[in-house]
Amino acid sequence: MPQMTRVVTSISEMRAASFEARSKGKTVVLVPTMGCLHDGHRALLKKGRAEGGLLVMSLFVNPSQFGPAEDFASYPRDLDRDLKIASEEGVDIVFAPDAGEMYPPGFSTWVEVEGLSNRLCGASRPGHFRGVATVVLKLFNAVQPQKAVFGLKDFQQFRIIERMVRDLDLPVEVIGVETVREPDGLAMSSRNSYLTPDERMAARAIPDSLRAAREAVGAGVQESRKIVEKVKKIIEGEPLAVLEYIKVCDGESLEDSEEASSGSVLFLAVRIGKARLIDNTKLVQ
Ligand code: PAF
Repeated sequence: MPQMTRVVTSISEMRAASFEARSKGKTVVLVPTMGCLHDGHRALLKKGRAEGGLLVMSLFVNPSQFGPAEDFASYPRDLDRDLKIASEEGVDIVFAPDAGEMYPPGFSTWVEVEGLSNRLCGASRPGHFRGVATVVLKLFNAVQPQKAVFGLKDFQQFRIIERMVRDLDLPVEVIGVETVREPDGLAMSSRNSYLTPDERMAARAIPDSLRAAREAVGAGVQESRKIVEKVKKIIEGEPLAVLEYIKVCDGESLEDSEEASSGSVLFLAVRIGKARLIDNTKLVQ
């Protein structure tokens, strides 16, 4: 029988619960989410549950990380289902503030992680990572976790949060969890729900292309240009897919790499119908 999960909406109540747990020697673990939970989130929650005493899942569709022409209004929301999943995964507290609690009138302070935030998704989504870094810092301040768990599908986001934690001396251990995939390899994402059946079929080109890239590197191809060409051919062979970017980058600095090496990661973003899907793979396993 899953336990009942407590829902907290105010920052002051969240902090009080966290201080109480910490005063009893419990480790507070945060799993930040925007809801619409899927098996990828379940993996984050399982990791969080294994890591600590008080497991907090935040549920907040953060307006500041969406551009004006993006899907903030239509982003899928299903609170009852999310609460059920949270309770099944042993979450102690769901922290679900409203936008007014997180962004009071006159809000004007932002966190910019320079450099890392401008490339890859940052180039096509100006301001996105400023919104992410700011809300994650605010969530850390509200929840006061010693540990926080993030998915590695959003690899650039993960590196940005690690850098923010390092640069601002935040006392939080940032933990990454491998991407959870559908049986055909498509990375789980809340935005997969936008895909029609035909578009869902077309989306298989993404994991297929990542596999082809890994195979090419395994067969001795090192030049990034040639790896990118291979991926491009597979994505462009799918009429419903519109390629936004493919890049081979250093997995730490996220700077472009001329050649694939042990630290290289291939990143891509593809639009299929209303969905903008991102994925990545290490090239040398
Ligand atoms: O990865 C997400 O779901 C969001 O970017 C996050 C980290 C919850 C911040 O809004």
